[in-house]
Amino acid sequence: MVEVYELWAVIVSLIVVKLCHWIYQWRNPKSNGKLPPGSMGFPVIGETFEFMKPHDAIQIPTFVKEKVLRHGPVFKTSLFGGKVIISTAIGLNMEIAKTNHIPGMPKSLVRLFGANNLFVNKDTHKHARSLTNQFLGSQALKLRMIQDIDFLARTHMKEGARKGCLDVKETTSKIIIECLAKKVMGEMEPEAAKELTLCWTFFPTEWFRFAWNIPGTGVYRMVKARNRMIKVLKETVLKKRASGEELGEVFKTIFGDTERGAETISLESATEYIFTLFLLANETTPMVLAATIKLISDNPKVMQELQREHERIVRDKIEKNEKADLTWEDYKSMTFTMMVINESLRITSTVPTMLRVIGHEFKYGDYTIPAGWIFMGYPYVHFNPENYDDPLAFNPWRWEGKDLSANVSRTYFPFGSGSRLCVGAEFVKLQMTIFIHHLSRYRWSMKTETPVLRRFVLMLPRGSDVQISEDTKTG
Ligand code: HEM
Ligand SMILES: *[C@@H]1O[C@H](CO)[C@@H](O)[C@H](O)[C@H]1NC(C)=O
Ligand SMILES: *[C@@H]1O[C@H](CO)[C@@H](O)[C@H](O)[C@H]1NC(C)=O
Ligand SMILES: *[C@@H]1O[C@H](CO)[C@@H](O)[C@H](O)[C@H]1NC(C)=O
Repeated sequence: MVEVYELWAVIVSLIVVKLCHWIYQWRNPKSNGKLPPGSMGFPVIGETFEFMKPHDAIQIPTFVKEKVLRHGPVFKTSLFGGKVIISTAIGLNMEIAKTNHIPGMPKSLVRLFGANNLFVNKDTHKHARSLTNQFLGSQALKLRMIQDIDFLARTHMKEGARKGCLDVKETTSKIIIECLAKKVMGEMEPEAAKELTLCWTFFPTEWFRFAWNIPGTGVYRMVKARNRMIKVLKETVLKKRASGEELGEVFKTIFGDTERGAETISLESATEYIFTLFLLANETTPMVLAATIKLISDNPKVMQELQREHERIVRDKIEKNEKADLTWEDYKSMTFTMMVINESLRITSTVPTMLRVIGHEFKYGDYTIPAGWIFMGYPYVHFNPENYDDPLAFNPWRWEGKDLSANVSRTYFPFGSGSRLCVGAEFVKLQMTIFIHHLSRYRWSMKTETPVLRRFVLMLPRGSDVQISEDTKTG
């Protein structure tokens, strides 16, 4: 009996020693030099829960603020099971964004996007960007996309006004999916379109999470939904090819390149790539637009100025006997709206917008940032009073004139920086502008008690409804 007991004692103490060692290693990660200050938190969990606490969307999260006060602008932590450097130092952020090319995302997202995704894979990354520019860059938007967005926004807004209520997030989501789907698929069979839309509803909004692919977890459902959606896309393409029907512009661009002898892209990769664009577009723009609408609604002077701008544009078109459809010139003349959007993107940038995996060990002052760590760069400059007077105020007029724009490239990073600068930026601005244009033609308001929060991604726990009706005054 005594021997068994002793054996157990030995085993238990071995386990305890091993555990302590593991915890010690977790808290003191290996490095060839001095790591930035900060705490790694609990094993595996790290500081994920503190990091993911919901906060007011236009306030830098308390977690980051407190760490910066305690440790300075650059600190280490652990999130979602990975080792992370968080930086609010803009010089370092730009340097890292310029010299590192692997996108920094937790494993849950890598699972979702696929490690061989055209955007993720370093050999195909440039090609993916240039493809995207061919149908989402200014030139393509100007020549083709603007009419679609204009038509969709106009139609949805009219219907909302008839019902008296419009859900900003849902409406934007519909507009985006409809105009992207057309670009991708050309005209699609109604069943396939329905199936595709159905797949999307399996996506839980919290796609930024731990990576365990275990039945019942969010990631498991997302990966399943993703695979199903890719299957639907693939089947549609194969069917269209078999019957000799036209594919949409996007597939034509992708496969057209292949025929000209460029690198071959499999149907599998092509659908994965398209899925990535759908997902990113649908997860970002509707939320940011809803937050913008909330900011406008809370600032009557801004709302009035917008109304003036858009009434003028409509009136001018009528006087000149032009068609009601918006042109690129109309879009470019919406200066105040662009100021509003710039300001909204500045003030809602309370997330890291420069995300990379550190490729090679990096020296920063006394500190060493080891290869393999995830780097998250916050655009803290957006909230620096030296760059933006009274930075927490939503003030579109600060964008007036040239003073600010002269320095804007070093003080403004809503879409990141460097080799992974957002490829959807032009598309987003066009979407938002046209939406605001049509909305401003109506009498509208959003309830003051519509919270806009952030939990890494934006959240609208009470929805994003606006009350909307025909403005009888202007007709
Ligand atoms: C308001 C909406 C959006 C915001 C705030 C936003 C912001 C960002 C940011 C911060 C990055 C990372 C840049 C970096 O790490 O340096 C990024 C990358 C990216 N975004 Fe967006 N984005 C938005 C909308 C979109 C849309 C609509 C699309 C697609 C249609 C899109 C597609 C992408 C892609 C593909 C990348 C990765 C680019 C690459 O790896 O080269 N984004 N975006
Ligand atoms: C787009 O995202 C929203 C959540 O933000 C989701 O409810 C919707 O189903 C998604 N996809 C489509 C096609 O609407
Ligand atoms: C908006 O921001 C961009 C920088 O992204 C700047 O070049 C542009 O001048 C700004 N537009 C207005 C109207 O302030
Ligand atoms: C632009 O940047 C320079 C150098 O950083 C600075 O001296 C100047 O005051 C800035 N101008 C404005 C208008 O912020």
